[in-house]
Amino acid sequence: MAKISLQNIKKSYGNVDVIKGVDIDIEDGEFCVFVGPSGCGKSTLLRMIAGLEDISAGELVIGDTRVNDLPPSQRGVAMVFQSYAIFPHMTVRENVAFGLTIAGASKAEKDAKVAEAARILQMEHLLDRRPSQLSGGQRQRVAIGRAIVRKPQVFLFDEPLSNLDAALRMDMRMEIGKLHQQLGATMIYVTHDQVEAMTLADKIVVLKDGKVMQIGAPMDLYHNPANLFVAGFLGAPSMNFLNVEVVGLEGDLAEVSSPVLGKVSVSAKRGPFAVGEAAILGLRPQYITLESGKALMKGKVALTERLGAETVVDIGLGDGTSLIAALPQDAVYTVGSDIAVGFDGDKAHLFKAEALPEKGAH
Ligand SMILES: Nc1ncnc2c1ncn2[C@@H]1O[C@H](COP(=O)(O)OP(=O)(O)O)[C@@H](O)[C@H]1O
Ligand SMILES: [Mg+2]
Repeated sequence: MAKISLQNIKKSYGNVDVIKGVDIDIEDGEFCVFVGPSGCGKSTLLRMIAGLEDISAGELVIGDTRVNDLPPSQRGVAMVFQSYAIFPHMTVRENVAFGLTIAGASKAEKDAKVAEAARILQMEHLLDRRPSQLSGGQRQRVAIGRAIVRKPQVFLFDEPLSNLDAALRMDMRMEIGKLHQQLGATMIYVTHDQVEAMTLADKIVVLKDGKVMQIGAPMDLYHNPANLFVAGFLGAPSMNFLNVEVVGLEGDLAEVSSPVLGKVSVSAKRGPFAVGEAAILGLRPQYITLESGKALMKGKVALTERLGAETVVDIGLGDGTSLIAALPQDAVYTVGSDIAVGFDGDKAHLFKAEALPEKGAH
């Protein structure tokens, strides 16, 4: 097991900067997830940690050792890829033992380590099969087994579940969470899926365009996103963003309003804001409530999506903006009918005005 430190890590291909100075500290035994949209540099970063890509600048430390110039085999890491990279002509047993065979391990050692990995992954009954006789989830388990037998200090996962269907993805996600608890090893897990990041991570690193947007515990990022990008990326459905004007300031609070919104008082901690300043109000769909008396916003039901536990309602606010609300499932929402909603100012986020992140970034 080992802690990992990335210090001002950069990667360029020719004159294209792909990773633009990244600082991340991962504690011993921590489950760290790198999350961000496709192309933001997650795989490049992971491959640099694994030793599969040169580091253009910066320091990479695993344990107490600077490993920038060490070959992959001497870094104590094992990587699991999205494409399982297992050999079709070998049995599961041979696939799992592959790294040990290459290293010249004895048959007794291989048998013992393969048996242990198979027990951990509950695939003892699969050891004599070939990959063609396995499901996608079982194949991914073989790839993970191959990492386990090497007893790495650090496990690196690059979107290991992306090729699996939704139900299986959830099962495997839980299995990987359990595996981490069982092995207690340091793990770095790359995904574009914010749900995987929220559910698995001790620590999330949100990346965009080769830069760190924010680092923190999942609920920390959820409740205190540092910027619009993180606010819009984590949580589903995505946070709503409304254009507002700051109409008053008092202590740590700002009073804001807009043509579709009554006056409401919200935290101004991402300020400083000035009276008259245009700003963006972030509202999570889950914190919007149905109101009758003290409604802050009125609109018309444009679309509904029943999810069982909640109903997602798309509300047209009249000025062309739409608001997504996750509302109680048992009320009736008729498309075209009037609806009045409110929210608690404590649950809203006020951001300095900047370009809004693209819708559906994840
Ligand atoms: N060998 C390469 N040469 C040039 N550009 C590359 C190379 N590999 C990756 N890139 C670029 O680096 C960026 C980050 O890629 P990648 O790390 O694969 O992103 P992610 O894993 O987050 O989807 C992308 O814009 C990609 O086109
Ligand atoms: Mg990738």
